[in-house]
Amino acid sequence: MKTIETFNKNINKGNMLFFMLGFLLTLSLFGQHPVRDILTLEKNWKFIKGDVANAQQIAFNDSKWETVTVPHDWAIKGPFDKEIDKQTVAIVQNGEKVATEKTGRTGALPYIGVGWYRNTFSLPNFSEEKKVILLFEGAMSEPEIFINGKKIGSWNYGYSYFYFDITEHISSNQQNTLAVKLTNVGLSSRWYPGAGLYRNVRVIVKNKASINQWGTFITTPLITEHLAKVNVKTKVSGKQLKLVTTIKDAKGKTVATDTVETIFDNEFEQNIAVKNPNLWSPETPYLYTASFQLYAENILKDETETRFGIRDIKYEAEKGFSLNGKITKFKGVCLHHDLGPIGTAINKSALRRQLRILKDMGANAIRSSHNMPSLEQLELCDEMGFLFLAESFDEWAKPKIENGYHRFFETDAEKDIVNLVHATRNHPSIVMWSSGNEVPDQWGSQGAKRAKWLQDIFHREDPTRPVTVGMDQVKATMASGFGAVLDIPGLNYRVHLYEEAYEAFPQGLILGSETASTVSSRGIYKFPVEEFKMKQYDDFQSSSYDLEACSWSNIPDEDFVLQDDKPWVIGEFVWTGFDYLGEPTPYDTKWPSRSSYFGINDLAGLPKDRYYLYRSRWNTKDETLHILPHWNWEGREGEVTPVFVYTSYNSAELFVNGKSMGIQKKNKSTAKHRYRLMWMDVTYEPGTIKVVAFDDEGNPAAEKEIHTAGKPYQLILESDRTVIKANGKDLAFVTVSVVDRNGVPCPTATHQLKFKVKGEGAFRAACNGDATSLEPFHVPTMKLFSGKLVVLLQSSSKAGKINLTVSGNGLKTEKIIIQTKI
Ligand code: GAL
Repeated sequence: MKTIETFNKNINKGNMLFFMLGFLLTLSLFGQHPVRDILTLEKNWKFIKGDVANAQQIAFNDSKWETVTVPHDWAIKGPFDKEIDKQTVAIVQNGEKVATEKTGRTGALPYIGVGWYRNTFSLPNFSEEKKVILLFEGAMSEPEIFINGKKIGSWNYGYSYFYFDITEHISSNQQNTLAVKLTNVGLSSRWYPGAGLYRNVRVIVKNKASINQWGTFITTPLITEHLAKVNVKTKVSGKQLKLVTTIKDAKGKTVATDTVETIFDNEFEQNIAVKNPNLWSPETPYLYTASFQLYAENILKDETETRFGIRDIKYEAEKGFSLNGKITKFKGVCLHHDLGPIGTAINKSALRRQLRILKDMGANAIRSSHNMPSLEQLELCDEMGFLFLAESFDEWAKPKIENGYHRFFETDAEKDIVNLVHATRNHPSIVMWSSGNEVPDQWGSQGAKRAKWLQDIFHREDPTRPVTVGMDQVKATMASGFGAVLDIPGLNYRVHLYEEAYEAFPQGLILGSETASTVSSRGIYKFPVEEFKMKQYDDFQSSSYDLEACSWSNIPDEDFVLQDDKPWVIGEFVWTGFDYLGEPTPYDTKWPSRSSYFGINDLAGLPKDRYYLYRSRWNTKDETLHILPHWNWEGREGEVTPVFVYTSYNSAELFVNGKSMGIQKKNKSTAKHRYRLMWMDVTYEPGTIKVVAFDDEGNPAAEKEIHTAGKPYQLILESDRTVIKANGKDLAFVTVSVVDRNGVPCPTATHQLKFKVKGEGAFRAACNGDATSLEPFHVPTMKLFSGKLVVLLQSSSKAGKINLTVSGNGLKTEKIIIQTKI
């Protein structure tokens, strides 16, 4: 059962494009029912995995089903099972010609099959005058939706936002029953897609005379230092309408108001002047709010708000991408939508933590590979300052996998794009659309036509942003005209073809839409230290010397060269910012590998060494000085153990137990010498390694040392936040590590730890970043991997304290307290 709450409680501010200004405010001002209610269906859902006859019927008895909260991912608790996604296939995109047995490709978690969800809600303010919208921000997948026993609609693509007008199916004086059937077929994804109602479900009750769902489109076509022209188009329903639009600055102060009564068909258009505008950028993510009041014959009928930014984007041949007149390169990462140990169930604090980590690395951009981003992620990118490349599809009409999106392409591609654009176009963070990733349609005569068709849909719905496609078949797209059609040609890998593509394509720009695909496991180093492609080791880990990539990809440094030397390369999106569930290349035939090795950060969000390589180049404000590998190599005494330093400085001297190993300077002899300092001949002896970095005048500017650790002695607990919100959703991420008696981190510890949580919160999950671990995330015990893991604590809805105790055999037990506040 659900009751209506005021918008402030049940929806995060800015969570949707439209939301009402508050039940009480409207009630007191106008002495009548609120003009708009938004009910987020979060609690008391009933769920069952499996197909059940008659589960849509009102009288159906679901009391034995599990009670869950939405957003929900039915598969994340596992167990991991090799048989779930075992496939004998040749992955054509990876250049394979012969089929081999693949395991863990979609994470080896039980997402395949049917699941049912049921919930009830009442709408006390419903009347003849009202319209009711049922909105899904994503449902995995192929949702079929039933209200009060009747099927009201379905949608195929699990990543789409979609809604239905359910007014005629609503019963005003009783509970309404919502039932949703979801079906995930096997061979439908190339990564872990998650399963279930993994994003929010909302019921919106408004007047028949009201602003349409996703009906607002705000652009800023003219910006000078003193004035911005804010163009607002608002689609409405009803007659004799008047719209009052008020623009407020970030402090809530009104900076402009405009009233319009002239309507063109069903759309109002306003041009509103904002004086001395504060421009939005990654460095200054300044947001304005536009609020709308819709009147019919001077009676208030609807109220909504939407945030927007004032910013100017330009893509110019030879010059590149400029934001507010300043050439800006994309220092971006690709992200899949799973949040590691909590799966795909959307959680704003997990997303915010990801962005904080990326911000510190100096990243300024995200690509939502290969599908629609969550609305929460876009809000955070608006607020925290990230440029966004919003992608739609991994397949068009030609298949990559047996049951991929090609099944729906002809019928659904247009409506999926329309919903993507309408739901997200007011986010200033979005600066480019992508209509596809490495689609096999790059081959063949139809491909260029499809590319144009999709691009035209984007242009029709949003004339302000260009469209790209991530292309891996670069030669084919040069020959067919496919690449020439695109606003922005995006190259996935193929560093050796950038120059040729730039010459061949007419745009005068190349985007590194997907780059690197370097593989590594946090804290694992392999010898000898050499560049390898598709290198495999017996422990199914990859080396953190960051020299291993796929047969189609390369080390980060090769992309850096192009980014630095070619003004027409407008930036890159590294594959990937974080490890994700599924696609365990180069171990996709090796069980138990079940998650990726591509991440700059591991699945727990802990930085790998590569993080510092990107940081040393991307974060131009803060100093970076990082040494690798760790210095605990019992048994390697006297053996060559190279030392790398990732630093924002250009040169440094290395000392092993006080003895100089010489000075290294960045130089252009090879790509890696240009961006890393490498001492290749160091022989291992336990003790201390120290690096002293020099500024460009040759003066010592910074130093760092690491030590050989003794026996593991004590646990160390560090939380990303010490105070979290008591809202039943907020998360604290506690990093657990082990140190010796002197406080030196033990980088090889693998102790099995136990977690106990008391107070106003619960243990949500743990993750150690080991791609081969089959320990379930939700059970409060886990092994350390390379001396670390992360515990996720979730608040309850009462303010108080959460106590986490971590213990492990032979280690001093440790505690941490997190405060929770309303
Ligand atoms: C790309 C593809 C990504 C991922 C990556 C791994 O070709 O677009 O989805 O598979 O390779 O290197």
